[in-house]
Amino acid sequence: MSKTVSNWKIVFLDPLQIFPNPFFARSNLDDTIDEVFIEDAVKDLKQPVIVRPKGEGYELAFGHRRWMAFKAKGVKIPCIIRELSDEEMIDYAWDDVFHFEAHEPEDEARLILKRLDFKLRHAPKEYAKYGNDPLNVLKAMNAEQFSKYIKSREFSAPRGAEKSAKGRPAGTTKYPLPVPEVLVKIVETVFSELPAKRRIDWRTFLMHRLPLLEIPDEVKEELDSKEVRGSTRAKEAIAKVEDPDARRCLLEWAKEKPKVRVRDLDKRASVLNKVKDELEKAPEQEKEKLIDLILEKCPHPRQIKLEVERLKASETPSTIVDEDVKIYFKSCEDMSELGDGSVALIITSPPYWNKVEFNDVLSKAKTADEFFALMDPIVEECARVLMPSGKFALNWGEPIGEGKGENYYEEVYVHRWIELFKKHGLKLYAKIIWHKNPFYAIAMDRVRYDDAVKADAKVHLNWEWLLIFRKDGPTREGNTGITYEEWKNWTDAVWYIQAAQSVRNLAVFPDELVERIIKLYSFPGDIVLDPFAGTGTTLSVAKKLGRKAVGYEINKELQPIIQQKLVS
Ligand SMILES: C[S@@+](CC[C@H](N)C(=O)[O-])C[C@H]1O[C@@H](n2cnc3c(N)ncnc32)[C@H](O)[C@@H]1O
Repeated sequence: MSKTVSNWKIVFLDPLQIFPNPFFARSNLDDTIDEVFIEDAVKDLKQPVIVRPKGEGYELAFGHRRWMAFKAKGVKIPCIIRELSDEEMIDYAWDDVFHFEAHEPEDEARLILKRLDFKLRHAPKEYAKYGNDPLNVLKAMNAEQFSKYIKSREFSAPRGAEKSAKGRPAGTTKYPLPVPEVLVKIVETVFSELPAKRRIDWRTFLMHRLPLLEIPDEVKEELDSKEVRGSTRAKEAIAKVEDPDARRCLLEWAKEKPKVRVRDLDKRASVLNKVKDELEKAPEQEKEKLIDLILEKCPHPRQIKLEVERLKASETPSTIVDEDVKIYFKSCEDMSELGDGSVALIITSPPYWNKVEFNDVLSKAKTADEFFALMDPIVEECARVLMPSGKFALNWGEPIGEGKGENYYEEVYVHRWIELFKKHGLKLYAKIIWHKNPFYAIAMDRVRYDDAVKADAKVHLNWEWLLIFRKDGPTREGNTGITYEEWKNWTDAVWYIQAAQSVRNLAVFPDELVERIIKLYSFPGDIVLDPFAGTGTTLSVAKKLGRKAVGYEINKELQPIIQQKLVS
């Protein structure tokens, strides 16, 4: 169909009448043209460029560098004029890019897309079903390959592809599967025509090359400035990061680490993408910190998810509020909602070291030493909010040495608590033994008569400490609501109270335990605080006894349980 206009004869045209091939894809052409090249090119009149007529002038199909040389010299250029279709123009641009000078991978990606588009038009009916967009065809082929993992035909755009296809709606899109054979053939042919050295398959193109088109100009400039090792592969790794802030941070990080390997960039890019949604959900002021954390420690994405949950929970100001009860779903490390000396009584049962959670989940304690070090600021914060003569009731069950059998103990830890409280001005005021589950040991086969006959009897640990600490200060007077009988029974140092049923593996206070402490150590109207509120037993009993209650709980999932306890 192509018609020779100059009968293959060479004609001389003014280079200013000629415009570049619209599909031409080499963005770094200027760098390859120097004085020597220009001098040599204009001497060689036997090598014409190929042009097609366009409007008043001509459009260059092939021979860009020579055309530029003639233009620079201002002399007429030998040309062959041919009638060429757009598709033929693309083919010339393709030859130009792939068979000649070095070119940028982004240029290559753009050209491949264009060529795909033209070739796919040879099957117009089938192609139209994919919105005449080569990306949609590639995405559908990709989805089909993984179709056993996807239940519906709806799938989201591949990374980096979303913005590059003009006018395509964002989010999930529906395309027919399976992709017609004719379209698959065309796609495969286009990729097979890439020269051997540059050959990639369509999936690699979709996953690794397309994101390059999405790099913002300023990032691209920095990447091109060679400050980041690894050229195209480093670029690919950085370009893959979908979140623009995260991408910029990774780029900065790579620049600061001149010896960084592409593998490390890839690993970080992959974590950043996996937690993209989490990063979006994270409180704005924390986002960069989280990204830095990923870049430095490259943690498992699950850890980041937990961290974001924690940050979000700590952002929630107070989700259950009623006149007398407030609960803050955040770590009690920061109780800035409470004024100095505002609390009359603290009742709490802190989790053991491997269960306590801190604002920064990565600082979770593993050993008793770490645990008490991390608890230090929490006790300090409690001492701050406690009023003079205020009490802190600590429930602490000595943990059983792991793997040592029930009768071996690593250490008795309670003295560490006593030291810690003393450090922050809280003195040990009363020692109570809470005896729980009197028959539990035998019923659960925890102790056996067999051991007795071996003179090796086991003793079941069925009691816990209840330590009352006091902040120095003058005593207050009033009616706590305690009766004479209650006072008589509860001032005995051993309290027999049946343990409550645990909830979600949490050791829950029995109501009576809390009631005794509240009536012994506070007045109606006082503020009672539980910094590790759990299911909210302290709060609900305090409310029933006419006290105001404040709780801190890091696990927001306990909210419905607490809510129910408060209304029952
Ligand atoms: C032993 S349970 C308390 C049970 C509670 N006494 C009750 O009656 O339900 C300890 C609670 O502390 C919470 N927790 C752990 N670390 C925390 C922190 N840093 N700040 C606030 N709560 C925390 C846990 O999620 C758990 O619910």
